Amino acid sequence: MKIAPFKVEEWMNRYETGAKYNIAETCVDSVTLDEFWDLAGIDKGRFWEDFCRRRLTYGDIEGRPDFLKGVSSLYRTIRPEHITPTHGAAGANHHVFYSLIEPGDRIISIMPTYQQLYSIPASYRADVQILHLRQENGYLPDLKELERLAVPKTKMICINNPNNPTGALMSGEMLRKIVRIAEKAGAYLLCDEVYRHLTQDDGWCESIADLYEKGISVSSMSKVFSMAGLRLGWIASRDAELKRSFLSHRDYNLISCGMFDETIAGLALQHKEKLLERSRALVRANLDLLDQWILREPHVYYTKPQAGTTALVYYDFDMSSYEFCERMYQETGAFVTPGDCFEEAHSMRIGYAGSPQILEDGLQAVSRFIRILEKEGVPVCRK
Ligand SMILES: Cc1ncc(COP(=O)(O)O)c(C=O)c1O
Repeated sequence: MKIAPFKVEEWMNRYETGAKYNIAETCVDSVTLDEFWDLAGIDKGRFWEDFCRRRLTYGDIEGRPDFLKGVSSLYRTIRPEHITPTHGAAGANHHVFYSLIEPGDRIISIMPTYQQLYSIPASYRADVQILHLRQENGYLPDLKELERLAVPKTKMICINNPNNPTGALMSGEMLRKIVRIAEKAGAYLLCDEVYRHLTQDDGWCESIADLYEKGISVSSMSKVFSMAGLRLGWIASRDAELKRSFLSHRDYNLISCGMFDETIAGLALQHKEKLLERSRALVRANLDLLDQWILREPHVYYTKPQAGTTALVYYDFDMSSYEFCERMYQETGAFVTPGDCFEEAHSMRIGYAGSPQILEDGLQAVSRFIRILEKEGVPVCRK
C-alpha cells in the first residue's frame, strides 16, 4: 500500500535528537518519572514494590479500569466503556481510519493539520477533499465551504482542535455548527484533540465526543500530560457500533496496550489537575516570551495562537522553508519545523511548550540567523 511520506515526522526524525535548541517539539516539556512522583506525592518505593510483583501478561485487553476511568473524567458524557486505548494518538487516528474507511469514501479534512488526517484516508483510496484554513480567518474553517463539501453520504469530516500547527481554537459554538453540518451529511466527525485543555484562558474546552453521537475524539498522554514516552492514547466515542468495530480491528493490530504504560497513565490521570496546572503555566508563560520576540523581530509575523503548543510563524525572506530551516539548524543550532511540512510556504512551526530557557536561547539563535540573512542581502517578499 502506497502512502505519502509523513513530512513533519520525517523532518523530526532526521534532526530532533541532535538539535542544540529544540523549539520544534510539540509536547509540553516531558516529565521524568521522578518529577511525576514528586508532583503527585507518590511513594516511589511502594510503587515499584507493587508493580514488580505483577506478572507481565497482556493485562486488561480493553484497557485498565483506572486508566479508562481517568480518561472518562476528561469528558462530560464519555464513560469508561466508550474508550478504546491505542498506541498514542498516532495509533488512534490510524485505527479510526483502518476500522472505518473504504475505497471511494468521501472524507473532508482540514489543512494545515497533522498529516495523518488526510494522507491515511488517501492511502486507503478514499476521495479526500481539503478544507483550507486561512490566516485571514484566524485559521478557523469557513463553514459555508464545509457545507458545500459535505454532500450527503460524506463518510467522515476530520478536524483538529486546538490546531497543530497554528494554535487556532474552535469555540464550542463553532463545533456545534460543524456537528449540524456533519449530521446533515450523515458523517462521522473525527476530532484530533491532543492539545485539548492547553488553552490560554481558563474554562472548559469542549470535546466532539460530548457534542455528537457520531463524534470521535482522539487524544493521548503525550502533549497535555507530558508523557509521550508512554506511547498511550485513546479513541472516545459514544457510538456502540463504532466501539465494536474498533475492538474487532484492534484484535488484528494491537491486542492490548502495555500494562506499565496504562498503570502510569492511570496514576497521572488521578493527579491530572496538578499536571494540567503545570502544563498550562508553561504554555501561558512561554507564549508571552514568543509574543515578545515576534514584536521585537521585524522579519517575522504570525497570528497569535489561542491554545495548543505551536505557532505558525512567517518570515519575509524569499527562501523556501526547507532551505531556511536547514540552514538555520546547521549555522546556529536552532531547530524548528518547515512550514512546507504543512503546505504553508515561507513559514516555520515553533513549538513553545518546552523549557523556557531553551525557548529563549532558541529564539535568540533564530534572530542570529535572521541577522546572517540580512547581511547576505537575501531579498525580502511579504506574503
Ligand atoms: C495533532 C496531533 N495528533 C497526533 C499526534 C501524535 O501524538 P501521539 O504522541 O499521542 O501519538 C501529534 C503529535 O505531534 C499531533 O500533533
